[in-house]
Amino acid sequence: MDAKTWKNPIIAWVDKRLPIFTMMQHDLVDYPTPRNLNYWWNFGSLAGIVLVIMIATGVVLAMHYTPHTQHAFESVERIMRDVNYGWLLRYLHMNGASMFFIVVYIHMFRGLYYGSYKAPRELLWQIGVIILLAMMATAFMGYVLPWGQMSYWGAKVITNLFSAIPLVGDAIVTWLWGGFAVDNPTLNRFFALHYLLPFLLFALVFLHLVALHTSKSNNPLGIDVKGPQDTIPFTPYYTVKDMFGLGAFLIFYLAFVFFAPNFFGEPDNYIKANPMQTPPHIVPEWYFLPFYAILRAITFDILFIPAKLLGVIAMFAAVLVLLFLPWLDRSAVRSARFRPIYKQVFWLFVADCILLGVVGGHPPEGVWVPLGQAATAFYFAFFLVIMPLLSFIERPRPLPSSISAAVTGKGVGISAHGVAE
Ligand code: HEM
Repeated sequence: MDAKTWKNPIIAWVDKRLPIFTMMQHDLVDYPTPRNLNYWWNFGSLAGIVLVIMIATGVVLAMHYTPHTQHAFESVERIMRDVNYGWLLRYLHMNGASMFFIVVYIHMFRGLYYGSYKAPRELLWQIGVIILLAMMATAFMGYVLPWGQMSYWGAKVITNLFSAIPLVGDAIVTWLWGGFAVDNPTLNRFFALHYLLPFLLFALVFLHLVALHTSKSNNPLGIDVKGPQDTIPFTPYYTVKDMFGLGAFLIFYLAFVFFAPNFFGEPDNYIKANPMQTPPHIVPEWYFLPFYAILRAITFDILFIPAKLLGVIAMFAAVLVLLFLPWLDRSAVRSARFRPIYKQVFWLFVADCILLGVVGGHPPEGVWVPLGQAATAFYFAFFLVIMPLLSFIERPRPLPSSISAAVTGKGVGISAHGVAE
């Protein structure tokens, strides 16, 4: 829509000088969206809404929180008891973190299933991976703020991992801590960064959406849009669908907030941090458990590299490998619907991630050690061996000629590239 066509004179005046209304019309109303998107495509907008909820509740919580080791724990208790609706703000924020990871993990598995990381969406996917890393850093630092037992010991264990880096490891740990122990300077910088990073996330999400609207949405068939018959305008069709999804999600989210607010939490974090008393079992939040399992899976040195360093490398590699996914998977077909072997391996991979999560929640002893090692081996084999191999050995099923042909039931299989032959 051209600026001239705005009927409201104020909107027309603003838009002529700063075309935000034209941009919104273009990206939120007219945006030609594949007509066959299913509910798995709701999770991107849900993630965006959760990010806004996290920032809104976080900013108000910060007005009542004191980033000092002597006061942090009590200031959180005060928020829970004395601040008007403080309990609600805190429970929304605490459970919001878990919701954020649930939504984003589903969003990523959706991408993995439908091949949304493949050309031309490689950069869109990679920005997503950077978003995931920023989210993890934000969540980790946020968990330290209430200064409970698990906050303190979690921070100590995870920051200490960097000491495994040869030569400079100890210096890095001192630099991270801002001293020679996890103490007040550590808490202070974690608070500053925990406040800063969500705004960086916001900027990254903006880039993510620019990339999305440049390469356009993928769809469950994984074939390209061939013309206007394959798309519908984003508004009203997908705005309504996204609102419905939001309603369903809010029921789920608020059920935890109001009826089981500590379900995802750790009881030990209601005990004030005590550097003189190590909790019997230090566990991170559930969304880090698969990575925690990978960290602890390496129990042996390889040549001159100590097991601890290998574990740290494996944990970071588990996320960073995602950056290379568009080039590890060479299959010409995007959607798992048409990839009979990949479809099954995908579900094995989902089961493997859940298993890693279960392993991460148990102490590293007995059967959990070999189980964690096998699950870690499969995790990396999925990306580094199975994906590249399947690109060559799998015979994809024939693709429909177009999205419109498929949704109207006239789709006949044609070429592996989705191009009518
Ligand atoms: C704060 C976190 C995130 C937000 C707010 C967000 C937002 C969105 C939105 C609104 C969409 C379009 C709707 C949809 O396809 O669901 C989208 C698409 C996409 N996102 Fe994200 N995203 C986030 C994290 C991630 C992560 C961690 C990844 C992957 C590592 C990722 C990869 C993708 C891909 C590949 C698409 C295109 C999907 C397609 O068209 O099939 N996103 N994202």
